[in-house]
Amino acid sequence: MLERVLSMRRPPPHTDDGDGGGGGGGGDGDAASLAADESKTKKHNHVSILVARAAHHFSKLNHVCPWPCLLLCLVLLFLVPSAIRHSRNIVCISDPYDPVSRARFFGFDGLESDFGSLGVPWCRSKHGKNVEWTSKDLLKGLEEFVPIYETRPIKNNMYGMGFDHSFGLWFIARWLKPDLMIESGAFKGHSTWVLRQAMPDTPIISLSPRHPEKYLKKGPAYVDGNCTYFAGKDFVDFGSMDWKTVMKKHRITDLSRVLIFFDDHQNELKRLKQALRAGFRHLVFEDNYDTGTGDHYSLRQICDQFYITGGGHSCFKFSDEARIRAKRKKFWEKSVDTDELCGPGEAWWGVRGIMRDNFNHSNEPISYTQHFQNSRFLESVLDVYWELPPVAGPSLTHQSRYDPARTSPPIVEDGRFRLFQRLGLAGLDRSVFNGYTQMVYVEVSKQ
Ligand SMILES: C[S@@+](CC[C@H](N)C(=O)[O-])C[C@H]1O[C@@H](n2cnc3c(N)ncnc32)[C@H](O)[C@@H]1O
Repeated sequence: MLERVLSMRRPPPHTDDGDGGGGGGGGDGDAASLAADESKTKKHNHVSILVARAAHHFSKLNHVCPWPCLLLCLVLLFLVPSAIRHSRNIVCISDPYDPVSRARFFGFDGLESDFGSLGVPWCRSKHGKNVEWTSKDLLKGLEEFVPIYETRPIKNNMYGMGFDHSFGLWFIARWLKPDLMIESGAFKGHSTWVLRQAMPDTPIISLSPRHPEKYLKKGPAYVDGNCTYFAGKDFVDFGSMDWKTVMKKHRITDLSRVLIFFDDHQNELKRLKQALRAGFRHLVFEDNYDTGTGDHYSLRQICDQFYITGGGHSCFKFSDEARIRAKRKKFWEKSVDTDELCGPGEAWWGVRGIMRDNFNHSNEPISYTQHFQNSRFLESVLDVYWELPPVAGPSLTHQSRYDPARTSPPIVEDGRFRLFQRLGLAGLDRSVFNGYTQMVYVEVSKQ
């Protein structure tokens, strides 16, 4: 499976298809290269005028020194434009998060091309089983979901889910068609609303210290009529809930018909063990943070190991990895450089050798041996591990937070602006695309 996953993650250079666009016709991506080309053309025109003026000036001296002047003109004509053409590789880039600068610096393929050096941690499932859905299903799902998303009651969901994860959660819930959905971490209720859109008649259980209705006083929030809330004064943490009694109350006999959604920023190893203990098998973790980032220990961090391509990072300051990290850090907000990655004793795992929990209110150092054991434990219970790809490439969404060298290829790849537009994604505010943190769906074995 790993091989397949890795090869999936290195797609051939993109050729447009199906958009009727041919060769990536139109689009922001193209706009970016057009902008680059245009400025290049302007520079060239300017240089040509200067060269022509110089040539004219030298031609006046023709009678004094004909051959050296001609030679100089030729040198100017050929060398100067070429020097300018190459200068964009060495110029300073003023706005680090500007998509045009990024595209110019890396080129489109280069947005993700450091994959081999930085790698992507990937959890191995026991028997190589994968999800049933395909990229075609995801595209079809996107087409359906965009108009639904436009009707969301909470338009500004800062600190909650953006478009990518809302789509992922909706898609997974709709595909699995559970008999009961449980969410831990509701905030104003956007994710409850998403679950409701996926399954209009299925009961929901929501656990959150603050009841979403409290937010109604200040602005939009969502409270569901078919949801049992363990919130406010009735709040119970997922790990302390008497799930046997709750399942009985909801007449659930088959726990594999229940979908759990975690967006509560707790250590995911802790949550996984609690879910296993209760007998749940289908779990979604919203914030599946990359190594070196985030406020809780994630499955992705746990799976970052030496035996997986791209796992086990180098803390050597003069390594290729350090150089590439430093370069990418300038363009992607969530990228980490070697200093940020490595803690004392060259501890790169988790976040600088720390296992964070509960919004980083608790942080416990772990040894590499413990971290390694955690990954062996995870792999021993994992039937399926599937990271939601970003919905669209960064030149389309203008997102600057996740680094495309560390994610699966997007559902709508860079350059496919017509498809992006046709799906209605171009009409959404850019800010909704900036919350992607590798949301993951896992199926765990029956214990
Ligand atoms: C990022 S927000 C959730 C966003 C929400 N799912 C959405 O999409 O809009 C995290 C939420 O987790 C809640 N939380 C904090 N500790 C929790 C816990 N132990 N169990 C469940 N929720 C918790 C916070 O109060 C907050 O509402």
